[in-house]
Order: sequence, then structure tokens, then C-alpha cells
Amino acid sequence: MRQAGKVTGQILNDLEKVIRPGITTLEIDRFVEKAVKAAGMTAAEKGYCGYPASICVSVNEEVVHGIPSKKRILREGDIVSLDLVVENHGYMADAARTYGVGKISPLAQHLIDTAKQAFFNGIAFAKEGYRLSDISNAIQTAVEGEGFGVIRDFVGHGIGSNMHEDPQIPNYGKPGKGPRLQRGMTLAIEPMITQGSYEIDVLSDDWTAVTVDGGLAAHYENTVVITDGEPELLTL
Ligand code: MF3
Ligand code: CO
Repeated sequence: MRQAGKVTGQILNDLEKVIRPGITTLEIDRFVEKAVKAAGMTAAEKGYCGYPASICVSVNEEVVHGIPSKKRILREGDIVSLDLVVENHGYMADAARTYGVGKISPLAQHLIDTAKQAFFNGIAFAKEGYRLSDISNAIQTAVEGEGFGVIRDFVGHGIGSNMHEDPQIPNYGKPGKGPRLQRGMTLAIEPMITQGSYEIDVLSDDWTAVTVDGGLAAHYENTVVITDGEPELLTL
């Protein structure tokens, strides 16, 4: 998982330079496919429940699970969320970032920054002894404190030899609930947040989740290991 996480984080960092106005979302997918292969690993999203690509690419009001397409051209001012799962000898790492395309609005930048900040507020409680929903509550508090919405229909999750394992990790909820965190647990913690309402629809491609009100969405995710001290972040 550490090795998979290193590759996941490196590819997401490298994509920052790939993303520019005029590129298609399919070109992002091609870049990722090659990079994962070059690392001797597998893009685990491809074929997962029939998902057709190596990375999820979600633009503007798309929240998660957008499908790369040669018809979708990124334009100056767009924001794009990239969500990647890499498999290494049967073990997974999962991470996501939202990037600006060229110059973006201050509001879009604030949304992106808030998703990341909420993740870091959340993992202040990703330690042995806390309960799972302490993370959830810290994320919700950070997001709503900026006036943004927290997606209810998708959640973080345990991860290991499967992409999605127990427990589910909502980005909202009262503190002090759920399982007690124990060292060695591996969790994908992933605030998905919206400019306006958190209500989503799924498009007729059966994958792309969009905000109902058309507001922007942002996503920030890392795979973390619980320890008795600071969590270990595998995908930075
Ligand atoms: N990587 C996503 C997550 O954060 C799941 C993607 S679903 C897939 O949990 F079908 F696209 F793989
Ligand atoms: Co995930």
C-alpha cells in the first residue's frame, strides 16, 4: 500500500503540470494509464463495477466519477477533480485532488482550499483512541464554517486489498460515534464539497455525479494509516 500510495501521489502531483486550457479529459486518462503502467502497477478503477477509464475526471459541477472523453475540452476558469486508485500486488491506494485550469475565480479557489483544509482538520482525529465520527464531524464543521455543502451520497471508506472496505466514513455527523480507531487501520478520507446545495444527480452515463443546482464541487482525498501518533499519509 505504501508503494501504491507513493505512485498515486506522484501521478497526481505530475498532473498539475499536464492540466491546462485546451487539453481533453481523455488526454488526462492516457497520461495516467501510461504512468501507472510505467510504475509496474494497475489502475484499479478501470473495470471496477464497469467503470471504463483509469481515472475519474470531474469538471466544475461534476462531483465525482466523471468519465474521461475526447469531446470534453478543459477551458480557462474550469476546476477539475481527479480521483485515482492504484493497485500494487493486490493492495490499493486512493487519492483525489481538485485543480484549477488556468486562472480561476476566488470562489472556486476557496472551495478547493476548503476541501483540503477540511481533510487536514479531519485527520487531526485520525489517531488511535478517537472514534471514527470525530473525523467526520471535524470535516463537516470545517466545510460548513465556510458556507459550503458536504456531499451526503458518497463517503470515505476503509481500503486495503479492496478499493472499498468497512468502515464507511461520512464527511458529516455527530462526534464520538462509530468504531474506535486502532493502529494499522487504513482509511481513505475524502471530503467532497459543494458551493451550494449538497444534493446530487447521476447523469444518464450512470456514473457522473453532478450538483442538482449546478454549483461547483471540489474533492480532496488521501489514504492514511492510523497509528498511536500522527497518521501516516500514503498518497501525498
Ligand atoms: N476512487 C473513488 C473513491 O474515492 C471510487 C471510484 S469508483 C470507480 O472511492 F468506479 F470509478 F472506480
Ligand atoms: Co475513495
